[in-house]
Amino acid sequence: MSTPPYDVERIREDFPILSREVHGRPLVYLDNAATTQKPRAVIDRISRYYAEENANVHRGVHVLSAEGTEAFEAARQSVASFIGAPSPREVVFTRGTTEGINLVAHGFSAAVLQPGDEIVVTGLEHHANIVPWQMAAERTGATLRVLPMTPEGDLATDALADVIGERTRIVCVSHTSNALGSVSPVAEVIEAARAAGAAVLVDGAQATPHAPVDVQALGADFFVFSGHKTYGPMGVGVLWGREDWLDRLPPYQGGGDMIDQVTFERTTFAGLPSKFEAGTPNVAGVLGLEAAVQYLTAIGMEVIQAHEADLVAYCVERLADLGGVRFVGTPRQRASAVSFLLEGIHPYDAGTVLDRLGIAVRTGQHCAQPVMDAMGIDGTVRASVALYNTRSEIDALCAGLEQVQTMFS
Ligand code: ALA
Repeated sequence: MSTPPYDVERIREDFPILSREVHGRPLVYLDNAATTQKPRAVIDRISRYYAEENANVHRGVHVLSAEGTEAFEAARQSVASFIGAPSPREVVFTRGTTEGINLVAHGFSAAVLQPGDEIVVTGLEHHANIVPWQMAAERTGATLRVLPMTPEGDLATDALADVIGERTRIVCVSHTSNALGSVSPVAEVIEAARAAGAAVLVDGAQATPHAPVDVQALGADFFVFSGHKTYGPMGVGVLWGREDWLDRLPPYQGGGDMIDQVTFERTTFAGLPSKFEAGTPNVAGVLGLEAAVQYLTAIGMEVIQAHEADLVAYCVERLADLGGVRFVGTPRQRASAVSFLLEGIHPYDAGTVLDRLGIAVRTGQHCAQPVMDAMGIDGTVRASVALYNTRSEIDALCAGLEQVQTMFS
């Protein structure tokens, strides 16, 4: 059976926000690394939950609570399937990528790290995969080490053997850089970590919206991502962890639903994944996330990846033709994001003019100050594509940038 062609115009109809105007112009949304827009399936799922199903989960004998619990746990299974997790017990719902990393960093502080141990992060990380590990190092007397990036914005894999060693307890690496779009050679990093007996956490925030992910094939110990960057709602995310690791780490927060028995003398904790889900969860968010992963699965992540690869290549080609563009990062493999500067023009000025033309890009440091420091710049203009973007939107971006250049020349 032949694959139907990718019908981007048809897909765009699924996203109500894409038909709105900004400053009297059609919206050209190219800030997808910050957050993706939501298909109607997600919006409707959240709305239906509050209109027809709202109840707390895991807590009641009444129909709404029982149905809610069933739907919530079915969503866990859907998410497990989306990332290839062997069991829904290994899927913990969080507020997002940041909370997932903090949870693991907290657990490592309490159960693993000793003075003199080493935590490795990379030079391409978002602040969310740096700061929690700095805090863990401060709490435990461990040391933070950095696998640097090359001037092109790739991981310097030739430094792996210098940075990862017998004192390394965990290696924390982004699958795809939010700032530059570089896709990391995660398999090589994991192999080096394994050889040293260290665990690996993969920040998948910029992976799940753009590429098929199979956590078992990847071979890491922890994988985190956010709902809102994967066409789902804000305020919900996922931590996947190997069961033996999740069993070893202590709870992150205490409260209802994460306990077995509570007395004033002592509390025993629930099993996985409840141990890490204290308090009432974001049920609507989880159901919205399930709708998002079902939506993506119906289109096919490979197909989405191919569409976006075409857009990224076209964007790089068109920007290069424009003249006066300095690419920030020319990585070997890139997904979604293209970071650049217009010669002599501040990124904020470029971003502001583009906004007046209805074009949304992100400007600044992209929560990745060490990346900017390594590049010797204050920030960039970043265009990041998603499954609903088109070549004509890239043309609109380039026409907008020409206007910026004319205004500031
Ligand atoms: N981490 C998000 C971004 O890259 C907010 O824009």
